[in-house]
Amino acid sequence: MGKIVTIASQKGGVGKTTTALNFSYSLSRLGERVLLIDADPQGGMSIATNIRKKTGRGLIDYLAGKSQLKEVAFYTKEKKMAIMGIGTVDPDSIHQLEDWARKGALSRALQHIAKHFDYIVIDAPAGLGSLTIALLEASQGVLLASQCRALSLKTLPKMLSLITWVQEKTNPDLSLEGIVLTMRNRDNETENEMFKEISTGFPADLFFSNFISYDPVYELASLRSIPVGMLKAGNFAARNYFQLAIEYKEKEMLLAQSKGEEDDAGSGLF
Ligand SMILES: Nc1ncnc2c1ncn2[C@@H]1O[C@H](COP(=O)(O)OP(=O)(O)O)[C@@H](O)[C@H]1O
Ligand SMILES: [Mg+2]
Repeated sequence: MGKIVTIASQKGGVGKTTTALNFSYSLSRLGERVLLIDADPQGGMSIATNIRKKTGRGLIDYLAGKSQLKEVAFYTKEKKMAIMGIGTVDPDSIHQLEDWARKGALSRALQHIAKHFDYIVIDAPAGLGSLTIALLEASQGVLLASQCRALSLKTLPKMLSLITWVQEKTNPDLSLEGIVLTMRNRDNETENEMFKEISTGFPADLFFSNFISYDPVYELASLRSIPVGMLKAGNFAARNYFQLAIEYKEKEMLLAQSKGEEDDAGSGLF
């Protein structure tokens, strides 16, 4: 059974879609079978990856029972990474999607899809609405994206309360995996001050130590509909996401170790 990880934020435009794509790519380069799903009706990820070249159908059509998994999830040139777009978006289907989210159908479908992969990475819509809540209810992990800007950082407490609420009410298996800082400019003193001030209110290990630097190459990668790691000019930027994925895996292993899940001393190594 694969692990479902949602990439979320209350604010839009903070690098969620970019993170979902490049983090998925990095996990797949580490050898994991990853399905990246666009669960945002705005379809940013479907556009950013040009999945429509394969099919205009996607998550919505799968949930409606109009398409099978193999008709909407496609492996990419990066052999272990597959992508599922949002699919047919119109006022009716958006309404339907929220209904499926509230009634648990979205969550059940994701659990089913997760059987076929090591990770399901979900690009969530911005905000704290029913769709985000349903995705958190279906996930074992949530990774938050935030810019190092006042408006973005100040939305974090509300998102953290929502995560606690979901953990207490419906999904005790949900783990807050960390906050990744995006579009970071380390030379910007205001950003540095802002981060210092805001981060003191949070547990020290809540932020991933590998942050994502601002780099115009992301625009170029978007234009070509690929992760930055597939661009020669994107090598430096791609390292940020590789290091993030490695840090993520390390945190995950340490957590499993501390929970004793890997303690099998009784039966030995063989
Ligand atoms: N590290 C980065 N450096 C430069 N531009 C970035 C970076 N990350 C994202 N962007 C750009 O910022 C914009 C918003 O990012 P996006 O991932 O679509 O945010 P969201 O999904 O949260 O709305 C896009 O144009 C994207 O190419
Ligand atoms: Mg987006």
